[in-house]
Amino acid sequence: MTKRITTLTLAGMKENKEKITMATAYDYASAKVADDAGMEMILVGDSLGMVVLGYENTLGVTLAEMIHHGKAVVRAAKRAMVVIDLPFMTYQVTKEDALRNAGRAIQETGAPAVKLEGGEEMAKTVEKIVRAGIPVVGHIGLTPQSVGQMGGFVVQGKNERMARQLLKDALALEDAGACAVVLEGIPWQLGQLITEKITIPTIGIGAGVYCDGQVLVYHDILGLQTELRPKFVKQFGQFYHPMVDAMRAYAKEVKDAAFPAPEHTFTMDENIIERLREKF
Ligand code: KIV
Repeated sequence: MTKRITTLTLAGMKENKEKITMATAYDYASAKVADDAGMEMILVGDSLGMVVLGYENTLGVTLAEMIHHGKAVVRAAKRAMVVIDLPFMTYQVTKEDALRNAGRAIQETGAPAVKLEGGEEMAKTVEKIVRAGIPVVGHIGLTPQSVGQMGGFVVQGKNERMARQLLKDALALEDAGACAVVLEGIPWQLGQLITEKITIPTIGIGAGVYCDGQVLVYHDILGLQTELRPKFVKQFGQFYHPMVDAMRAYAKEVKDAAFPAPEHTFTMDENIIERLREKF
């Protein structure tokens, strides 16, 4: 039987300097691809809103949507540790709300862990959720749920004040009991420094190669979208155009009555059809 990745596996990987792989997935099919490829972690990211549901940003994603998609991901992931993103306004208002919603996310999906955005200001919330027995992944730097406050999807931590704050944020999350922290959109030097300063794994996205692991969005890895492509994205396949081509080929064969061919078709006794033809 496949051995499931847990928070202990991740801690051991950091200690052994073994890189951690994480990809997002949003349904049974995408999670099966990520799990079969050997990802240690699968994130049901609230990027769901943008890459799957067509929203402009992540702010409109609801907990019900995350749970619906999270359930499908959990059904497919046999080895990877699945992490459910807590969407905007499900954990910021009160710590009690946060715990209740984190509880719903893991109870209703069957995933073991949640992720939430924010550093020092979220430490008490993280602590409350962790104390209830739910592993929490933190997320600092370019945090998409604060896109308005950041003034857009811009690199964070470039000046000394911001870099110092991000270090404090990472340390506060570690102290609060987070099992890992996503570092998004920060200079590689800061990614390296935070990785050295904390004992929990850092998972980078646009944070350089020295993080303990990396995460990318499913559609970006596979080249499934032609729109927005941030600098930190590398496409490891380009499947959008081949997919459109395959759809076109299907449509053409339908129009030309070339599909379905005899080998795709069921048959029956001709006499029965003859009798029906005469009677009706
Ligand atoms: O929602 C998401 O996909 C994320 C990752 C990009 C880290 O938070």
